[in-house]
Amino acid sequence: MSNNKILIVDDEPKNLKILRIRLKDVYEIEEAATGEEALEKIETFEPALVLLDIMMPGIDGYEVTKRIKTNPKTQNCKVVLLSGKALLEEKLEGYKAGAEDYITKPFNGEELLAKIKVFIKLFNLEDRLERMNEDLEEEIKARTELLLKNERMAYVGMQAGEIVHNLKNPLSIIFGYLGHLKKKHPEITEIEKLEKASNKLLDIIKSIMTSLNRDIQNEMVDLSMNQIVEDELRFLESIDKQYKSWIKTDLNFQSQGMFKGSSTHISQIVGNLIKNSVEAMKPCEKRILSISTYDAMNRVFVEVADTGPGIPKEEIEKVFEPLFTTKTGEDGGVVGTGLGLSYCKKMVEAYGGEIKLESELGVGTKISFYLPLSKDQA
Ligand SMILES: Nc1ncnc2c1ncn2[C@@H]1O[C@H](COP(=O)(O)OP(=O)(O)OP(=O)(O)O)[C@@H](O)[C@H]1O
Ligand SMILES: [Mg+2]
Repeated sequence: MSNNKILIVDDEPKNLKILRIRLKDVYEIEEAATGEEALEKIETFEPALVLLDIMMPGIDGYEVTKRIKTNPKTQNCKVVLLSGKALLEEKLEGYKAGAEDYITKPFNGEELLAKIKVFIKLFNLEDRLERMNEDLEEEIKARTELLLKNERMAYVGMQAGEIVHNLKNPLSIIFGYLGHLKKKHPEITEIEKLEKASNKLLDIIKSIMTSLNRDIQNEMVDLSMNQIVEDELRFLESIDKQYKSWIKTDLNFQSQGMFKGSSTHISQIVGNLIKNSVEAMKPCEKRILSISTYDAMNRVFVEVADTGPGIPKEEIEKVFEPLFTTKTGEDGGVVGTGLGLSYCKKMVEAYGGEIKLESELGVGTKISFYLPLSKDQA
């Protein structure tokens, strides 16, 4: 539903009447005779447009405009100033106060209607855009939650892979002893049953390993590290525009077609590092997030550096451990999962790369990692 409401403000009842007669058939009209009254009514009436006389007793039109434009509740409302003044300086003062336009009295009725139409349309378009933005923010929130969930699932998957892999060791010992026992005591027929059951267990382990590996391998595609970094930064900016001013990039990855991976994995690695740096820098005065990519020695390198508070020496060892977090909420409860960096390390290593962290208290933290480029094409 579009907003069709206009507040007309003039201390001359005659002028209010003329405007009301002209507009009432098309628009919903409310009137105010002073600046004070206008400011009260605008909050309850919530018009799309205010037609505002400049010269009024009490607060004048310029001041009313300023207050409308500095109040977050009313600042989207369009303001058209109406006045007998026609001097350029006075018009400029109106624009400076934040008014959208200026009409000199006596006005031409057609021109006034045409302008009103434009500003009502503009208000409604902006309003729609704002609502779309809000929807987008909701969607981003949902996506963030999903990413976090996927990250946890991926972590659980990796842990499961490791556990299953580790089951093979004790199983091979069982096989060894069973073979030995069978030779020594061929009369014990139960040994064969034990062997069969153990073989079944081995089949289960192998099939779980194959499906876990297939999940990773099936997703391997050609990736551009610059693109991944840019996408993650765009995602960051969409959460809050202020981050844009923190970011410094130097993206030199050039081995297009030579870097293969799953975009989910690599985006999560880069995204986790960016998220950590941004969170670390929040309380700092100087906030620079520097990200660089380059390739050398058949590897792609990525560095994420921040000017955050740095990490105490005794914690540097622990940050890659699963569940290590220092992030607490206002009530002292833990808000971080402590899975971000352990995920990054496991993933980077699963790709055959390495990750390292350098940090200095009061200076900042730099995390760099590399991943191998594909050998066949490199
Ligand atoms: N750039 C950084 N600057 C300062 N401290 C950091 C930085 N990156 C990580 N840390 C420290 O390492 C800890 C572990 O990081 P990790 O990403 O694993 O988990 P988290 O960020 O605490 O939680 P989550 O990633 O789930 O939000 C953090 O709690 C923080 O203390
Ligand atoms: Mg983190």
